[in-house]
Amino acid sequence: MRTISTLVTAVAVATWLPCVHPAVAQDAGAAKAKENYQSYCRKCHGDEGKGDGAGAAMLNPKPRDFADCANMQKRSDAELFKAISEGGEAVGMSADMQPWGGTISEPEVRELIKFVRSFCKKS
Ligand code: HEC
Repeated sequence: MRTISTLVTAVAVATWLPCVHPAVAQDAGAAKAKENYQSYCRKCHGDEGKGDGAGAAMLNPKPRDFADCANMQKRSDAELFKAISEGGEAVGMSADMQPWGGTISEPEVRELIKFVRSFCKKS
């Protein structure tokens, strides 16, 4: 009996994992990225990612415009990752862009990179 139930569990897990899990994880990751952006980034980078959020008025230089495809295409994911987790100064930009590594986990930062890249509509 025990062997059978273990087998049933193993089969259930094996069929569940590859089909259901990645899709769910992806949706959850994207949703979380949007939530993080709204809570932490929108005030400077703006609703459309154009760097025109309410908190940006006083800033010089202004936050980067994520809808500017020419600029965004020059940046690697590694550079964006460093800017977000270690702050603007770590990549030679404004210190007004603070390090978020202590607030936002590494996988969430990776999802945020996809999210900020989505403001540039061209691929
Ligand atoms: C206090 C305002 C402010 C907040 C909040 C803020 N940023 Fe920034 N961000 C900036 C500024 C200012 C720069 C640097 C602009 C420069 O030096 O040219 C910047 C730069 C960046 C860059 C580098 C862009 C590039 O061209 O390489 C990324 C990526 C970025 N921010 C993402 C984020 C994310 C993600 C969040 C939320 C977790 C966030 N920022 C929150 C102001 C802000």
